[in-house]
Amino acid sequence: MRILTNTGKYRGYRYFKYRHPHHPIGVGWIVRSNTRYSVLVMCRPCLHVGRPFILDNPLPLVQRSDMRPILKWVGGKQRLVSRLLPHVRLPPGATYYEPFAGAAALFFHLQPECSAPGDAVLGDTNHHLMCMYWAVRNSLVQVIANLKRLETQHSVEHYHEVRRDWNTWATQDETLRAAQFLYLNAACFNGMYRVNRDGDFNVPVGTKIRLSDPLHLYQASQLLKGADLKHSDYVTTTRNCESGDFIYFDPPYHGTAIGYNSDGFSDADQQTLAHRANILRNRGCRVMLSNSDTPFIRDLYSDWNLEMVTRPGTMNSNTTKRQRVPELIITHK
Ligand SMILES: C[S@@+](CC[C@H](N)C(=O)[O-])C[C@H]1O[C@@H](n2cnc3c(N)ncnc32)[C@H](O)[C@@H]1O
Repeated sequence: MRILTNTGKYRGYRYFKYRHPHHPIGVGWIVRSNTRYSVLVMCRPCLHVGRPFILDNPLPLVQRSDMRPILKWVGGKQRLVSRLLPHVRLPPGATYYEPFAGAAALFFHLQPECSAPGDAVLGDTNHHLMCMYWAVRNSLVQVIANLKRLETQHSVEHYHEVRRDWNTWATQDETLRAAQFLYLNAACFNGMYRVNRDGDFNVPVGTKIRLSDPLHLYQASQLLKGADLKHSDYVTTTRNCESGDFIYFDPPYHGTAIGYNSDGFSDADQQTLAHRANILRNRGCRVMLSNSDTPFIRDLYSDWNLEMVTRPGTMNSNTTKRQRVPELIITHK
């Protein structure tokens, strides 16, 4: 392999361009960690994925604050992570649970604490989301190849075609489905995931596309290897929690109607969740929740610690005009 140029740094790792072994014009990327070359991403023009990663020396895990989620998600906690982190306690041997995973912002920020197999459990009732995580964890190379193909063809018409294919299950290939999911998330309006009553993804196309970063996906894939991924309801996900485990519940918020799935999350569901949180607290688990700051939620958790924080609202399409919305971080002593 012939190194052509040293092209700079990415989160502390140096990049190089190199000539692709099977494609005389192709240029791909490799990353050097310490003294050895470790990751090699695909050749851009031909999207060759024959041997995209050389894993003789996997990348060291990223530091906490550097790791972002791999998709945008309504209710995602990326901007609140600094307020959540001080409450997280993970003694040796404890497992981190995120039973309403979504984009799993807190999980990704917790690294490298949760990077060994069995360190974390992520669950969500959104089947497509969990399948995407499985594919990114287990078949990353094919996911990246499919995703890059979709991105290079991006246009408004192409977005609508992919959305139709997605909703009609035009393909059963799980790596292509995962790529479609990531592409639609990156190209849709506001990075939203919303479905109609039939469960069809119905978000319109956005004004720009967020291009994927293969290195970021690679790092996420490595981190997901430490997680047990469950497509399940939060009760099932937390069934085996033991004393000392840490559980972060981030449910659909009270008083909001966000179509994460066609079922919704009612007041009765909020009450059942509070009951579940109490059971786990009494079992000796450490429990933290996020929810809207409403009288109903304050009443449900009246014997818990309530910390009010604010986040930018999402209702105004002009991001600078969004008012800050209060919400609660709910913990116990
Ligand atoms: C507020 S979002 C979680 C956001 C996440 N913490 C993040 O950082 O992106 C709520 C998630 O709960 C999921 N969900 C809804 N009802 C659920 C249930 N009964 N059990 C598990 N997950 C559920 C939704 O699919 C959605 O992904």
